[in-house]
Amino acid sequence: MAQIHRSEAVTPHEGTQKATELFTRTFGDEPTGVWSAPGRVNIIGEHVDYNGGSCLPMALPHRAYLALKPREDRLIRLISPQTDDRIDEVNLDEIGPQGLPKTARHWASYIAGVAWALEEAGYGPLNGFDAALFSCVPRGGGLSSSAALECATAVALDEVNGLGLAGTIDAPNDEGRKILVAACQRAENEIAGAKTGGLDQTASLRCQKGHALALDCRDMSTRQIPFDLAADGLEMLIIDTRAAHSLADGQYASRRADCEKAAEILGVSQLVDVEDLDAALAQLDDEQLCKRTRHVVSEIARTHAFVELLDEGPLEGKRLDVAALLLDDSHDSLRDDYEVTCPELDLAVDVARASGSHGARMTGGGFGGSAIALVDAGAGEKVAEAIVAAYKEAGFEEPHFIFALPSKPAGREA
Ligand code: GLA
Repeated sequence: MAQIHRSEAVTPHEGTQKATELFTRTFGDEPTGVWSAPGRVNIIGEHVDYNGGSCLPMALPHRAYLALKPREDRLIRLISPQTDDRIDEVNLDEIGPQGLPKTARHWASYIAGVAWALEEAGYGPLNGFDAALFSCVPRGGGLSSSAALECATAVALDEVNGLGLAGTIDAPNDEGRKILVAACQRAENEIAGAKTGGLDQTASLRCQKGHALALDCRDMSTRQIPFDLAADGLEMLIIDTRAAHSLADGQYASRRADCEKAAEILGVSQLVDVEDLDAALAQLDDEQLCKRTRHVVSEIARTHAFVELLDEGPLEGKRLDVAALLLDDSHDSLRDDYEVTCPELDLAVDVARASGSHGARMTGGGFGGSAIALVDAGAGEKVAEAIVAAYKEAGFEEPHFIFALPSKPAGREA
């Protein structure tokens, strides 16, 4: 049988150490502290956040660690292991509505952009800072590696500037974190140039260990739902297809534009307000807009149904069967109606289903990235091996795997 490659998370101790070492080596000084923030998987509720719908993310143990020290001036200097040939420098006064100055590389916008957005929200003027990043969130894997950077920056800047918005990991200030979410989202939308919704940043800042987060994107209200798969005899397998994925390209934006157009024709402010799907479809005489609308409205209903299942009791027996159907239907809708999957995602999902998983679907933005499969505890390895074998046969790059439990939100490590 094929060997599987696991993308392991580093421990908080190791992540903190690596970020600190890089900081000290680069800037010849000790950081004020190290802050970290997790990537996420979304269990269900895909491409609905920017339509006012509901999502159900959980935080991963994979985190971005940021060692940071404020400066006296307005300069931001950044370093990461991927870029340690060169420090990126940005002056806070030069970050503008069109992004960063051309001299800085793109990754810097996720960090410097948050400082800019906090100032725009009235939390300035801020001092510049030096920062060193170490992240074990797979890059471009659809697991919110960029949101992890933004959110680690947000909690760091919150603390060193005494903004009082984040609270701590154990006693988070949830209202304050909503403000940080908005700043991180603005950095991503306006400085990094990806017009994403608020799912990823909310997950990274507001999820809790051992829980899934029921998020209502109409008002960003949340509810923590205990999500103890091990107690139900289950585990979640995350399959990083390693197929290239970018949210800054036109596909994500074009899906969003379709939804806005459909909402406008239907006379609602967002697709979440569609009450009668059949009537809405009859009113839209464009096939593509019908498909997009059908996905969004049905996905919101599936997410509510999934949350109700979790509220009712353990995922076992009939409840587990229904949960599996909801996950499967979600993927099929994203593949056929929303058209955001790709051959690698579809193959991973097909093989997971054929190998006895209780539902499998893509997670995140799509067009590459990751899929999830709910499997019996201890069965994930076998499912993963079957996927590796199928990928080999199809000539796809080898996928990576994560077995993850719901983890803690962004906060200070050391
Ligand atoms: C990406 C975006 C999110 C969300 C998902 C799809 O992860 O960043 O805002 O739209 O895609 O659910």
